[in-house]
Formats: sequence, structure tokens, C-alpha cells
Amino acid sequence: MLDVNKIREDFSVLNRRGSYIPIYFDSACMSLKPDQVVKVMDDYYKEGFACVGRSAHRSGVQATKKVKEVRGIVAKFINAKNENEIIFTRNTTESINLFANSVGLSKGDIVLITDKEHNSNLIPWLFLRDKIGIIVKIIPCNGDGTFSIDNFSEMISGAKIVSVVHTSNLDGVTNPIKEISQIAHKNGALIFVDGAQGMAHKKIDVRDLDIDFLAFSGHKMLGPTGTGVLYGKASLLEKLTPFMVGGNTVSNSTYTNYEFLGVPDKFEAGLQDYAGILGLGEAIKYLNNLDWEEIEEHELKLNTYLTEELKKISKIKIIGPENGAERSSVVNFYIEGVDMNKIAIMLDEMANVEVRSGRHCVHSWFEDKKIYNSLRVSFSIYNTMEEAEIFITNLNKIMKIL
Ligand SMILES: Cc1ncc(COP(=O)(O)O)c(C=O)c1O
Repeated sequence: MLDVNKIREDFSVLNRRGSYIPIYFDSACMSLKPDQVVKVMDDYYKEGFACVGRSAHRSGVQATKKVKEVRGIVAKFINAKNENEIIFTRNTTESINLFANSVGLSKGDIVLITDKEHNSNLIPWLFLRDKIGIIVKIIPCNGDGTFSIDNFSEMISGAKIVSVVHTSNLDGVTNPIKEISQIAHKNGALIFVDGAQGMAHKKIDVRDLDIDFLAFSGHKMLGPTGTGVLYGKASLLEKLTPFMVGGNTVSNSTYTNYEFLGVPDKFEAGLQDYAGILGLGEAIKYLNNLDWEEIEEHELKLNTYLTEELKKISKIKIIGPENGAERSSVVNFYIEGVDMNKIAIMLDEMANVEVRSGRHCVHSWFEDKKIYNSLRVSFSIYNTMEEAEIFITNLNKIMKIL
């Protein structure tokens, strides 16, 4: 069983004295960060590490070595073949933009996405549609939000790229990526996976799932803000043209010419967030010390409890499958005719419960379903059953006065 009390000791925000301690149920937006991650970043600045890949002095060499180490840690974490398949970015959104603008799409090329992608996996494609004339096709999910292999199979012919979310921030559903990648590859398409939500909740093995490209953010997996990753199979990354260029991407330049470095350097333009990258490495080490089965078991327990309690409240409609076991660490719901922002603010004021309300950057889905907004509870390794009970008790109080 996951030792949640021990885990909580590592998160200063959950132990602060003289101030309120949040019941933090907004981990799908951003996770909390353990002190170990903060310390590594602090050390980077205090101990005088310097520029990576440029300066020959000891501080520069030390920083270069440390960042290289993290590239290896990330590669191992997702079971990439080698560390050069890891490109550091600022976040998932940048990784998706990098891919979309580097993969060489042209007018008429077809990109398939699902009907509940985060704006970060919708807008870059719509933008390219408007800019160069690609065709964006939307795969309708089943009524309960699960992936429809039938709809996908009907639409795959002629597609160049399939870009789908791993675990949805809308309803917590994890897509059958292995099956999707098999079908995509059989039809000559590349598969790009938006892994923003899954990384801190499930083991993702890019080779087992046969993922061509994967994007994720450090800040949702116990790491710092401003850190992200684009993974790509080495043979495919070689074929991409850089999206952003400049310092650190070339081996030489003249006033009229330049020579790009190899992968991954040519994709990492300018000075990176080195402190953040070291923090990301530490976050992965932290996750590596936990047991994935125990994480999933813990989240399942919380999700099942919350789901069953919410089902007792007649006006509440849960988004996604009825069964909490199918929704990872997300419970998202709405009440017709009620602005869920109000409830979120009341929960915070009444009991320090911090949830997310709104449209969760999936406006397209809410527009299509004609739902105004929703309230999302999303949890992680540091949340307890007592916290879930406090949430339910206070929600019930609010329902009585609504
Ligand atoms: C599924 C999904 N994709 C992409 C993103 C964008 O992540 P970031 O803001 O870190 O780029 C998010 C963030 O909430 C997300 O949940």
C-alpha cells in the first residue's frame, strides 16, 4: 500500500505551519512538488552551475554533465532507446507545436485527433489548417468518452498523423494507445501521443506502446514549471526540420550559411531552463522510488469513493465512464444550470478544498455538448481518503443551500 503519510512529509506545502494547508485536488492542472525537487533547483543556483554545452570552465562542464544525466533519466523512465531521443522543451504545448511545425506537413495532409483533445492538441493543428491547408479530422469518442476503435478504423485511411491524448484531462479516460498505434502504423500514419496527464499516474513505455512521438510536462509529474519533453524515435527525429533555431542549434555559421548540429541539439534553441531540467530529473527519481501498482491502487480507491458518493447526489452528472476505475485520477462533474466556479470558490472558502472549475482547456467539447462548465477533482500520490471525505461533506453542505 502506498505510504501516503510518508509521502506527505516530503511536500512542504502540506506541512506548513501558521498558514492554511490546502486540500489540493487540482493535480491535473499542476502537481505539487516534493522538497527534493525544490532543493536540486536551489542547489543549481546556489552552487554556481553555469551554461550547458558552451563554457569549458568547471562550472560549465559540471552543468553539462548534470543535464546529460537527466536526459538519460528521462529516456530510461519512458524506456526510450537512447537519450538523444529526448528533446527538452518548456511544456507539452511547446512539444506539440515543435512536432506539428517540424514534421513537414503540406496542403491536403490529414491529421486525426479525437473530439476531446486539450486545446494544446487541437489549436496547433487548426492553426496549420488555416496556415497551410492541412485537413484536421475529429474522431468521435463513444458516448461515455472512451476511445472508439470502430470510428478510428473507419477514418484512418489516408491519414498522415494520428495525434491523441494518452489520459484525458477532461474525464481521466486512458486511451488504448497500443491498439491505436498498431492501426496507425498498419495504415502508414505516425502516432503522436499527448502524455501530459499520464506520466505521474501510469507507467508509459514508448517501445511497448510503439509510440512515434510523445509530449509531456514536468509540472504535472512532481517537477517544476517550464520543463517539458518531446520524445521521438531517433530515425524519425532525424527527418524533422527544426521549428525554432538560433544559439546552440548549429555547429558553425557564416553571414550567409549555417550547419545544424545533430539530434537533439538542433531542436533546443537558446539557453534552456537548466535548474528546471535538474528538477525534472529529481521528480522522476522520486517517482521511480514508488511502486506504480500501489499508485494506481491508491488512486482507484479515491476515485471509487468519490464517484460512489457523487452518484448519491441526484443533480450531479459525472463526465466520462460511470465507473471510477476507468477515470484514473480525475472526477469531473457538472450540474445543469449551475456555474461550477461558484461551488469551487465555496469549497475553498469553507474547507480549503482546491479544485478546478471551468472548461479545462477543452472548450470544443463543452461547446459541442452545450455544457456551460464543470468542476474537476484530480488527485495524486499525496491525497488521502480523509481529504476526499472532507470534500464530500462540504459539497453536500453546499448542495443543501444551492
Ligand atoms: C491532456 C493535456 N494536454 C496538454 C496540456 C498542456 O500542458 P502544458 O500547459 O504543460 O503545455 C494539458 C494541461 O493541462 C493537458 O491536460
